Amino acid sequence: MKKIIIGNLKNYMVSSEIVDYLKKINKIEDKNVIICPSNIYIPYFLKKGYLVGLQNINELDKTCTGEITPKQAKSLGINYTIVGHSERRINLKESDLDINKKIIEAQKYNMKIILCIGETLEQKNMLKTSQVLKKQLLNCLKDTNLKNIIIAYEPVWAIGTNKIPSIKDISSTNSYIKEIVKQNFNSDIKVLYGGSVNSNNIKEIINVVDGVLIGKASTDAEDFLKIIEVVRN
Ligand code: PGA
Repeated sequence: MKKIIIGNLKNYMVSSEIVDYLKKINKIEDKNVIICPSNIYIPYFLKKGYLVGLQNINELDKTCTGEITPKQAKSLGINYTIVGHSERRINLKESDLDINKKIIEAQKYNMKIILCIGETLEQKNMLKTSQVLKKQLLNCLKDTNLKNIIIAYEPVWAIGTNKIPSIKDISSTNSYIKEIVKQNFNSDIKVLYGGSVNSNNIKEIINVVDGVLIGKASTDAEDFLKIIEVVRN
């Protein structure tokens, strides 16, 4: 099975840096690599033929200033969107219900979903990881089509911190997520890992997951190319 690599460029780069980055990653020709730039830079990536995803999608089926609809995304050939990233859950107070609505709305246009879930450090320390992940899964996946959804397990405490769970923990949490989805929705699902993935730790991580969601390291062209190389081999 081909492993999936998603580059979440967040709001890291300005236009001159994006131009430079595009020159450097020129070699990527891989249908399993999806790049999620800021919306304003998406056309740069589409022009070069990259598979592009959104970092978020609007859930309101009505006019709303500043938002991007699934219909607009599809009209540009954008088939993927991340939903439920913890930075949005925390900073913008997105709830599981909002995220569930986003998935349902995006699926009306056959978009493929990358659903982020994960526990905070406080929840982890209180031994609540399983409980938190289960709740997020049940709430976010309610009444959705599981066939076009990929889960990204991203412990909040591992994002941008250079800390990752042990490989054993990544592996067992991924199995747990698959089990919950199977039990409650009778469906198989792919589970990615995200949080401080880089070219040094990718080799051990990739063996126990269906793919990775990479933030900071995906903005470093050299590191990103190295990661792709390791995953391919
Ligand atoms: P990071 O971010 O790789 O910079 O930790 C991952 C993410 O937030 O998706």
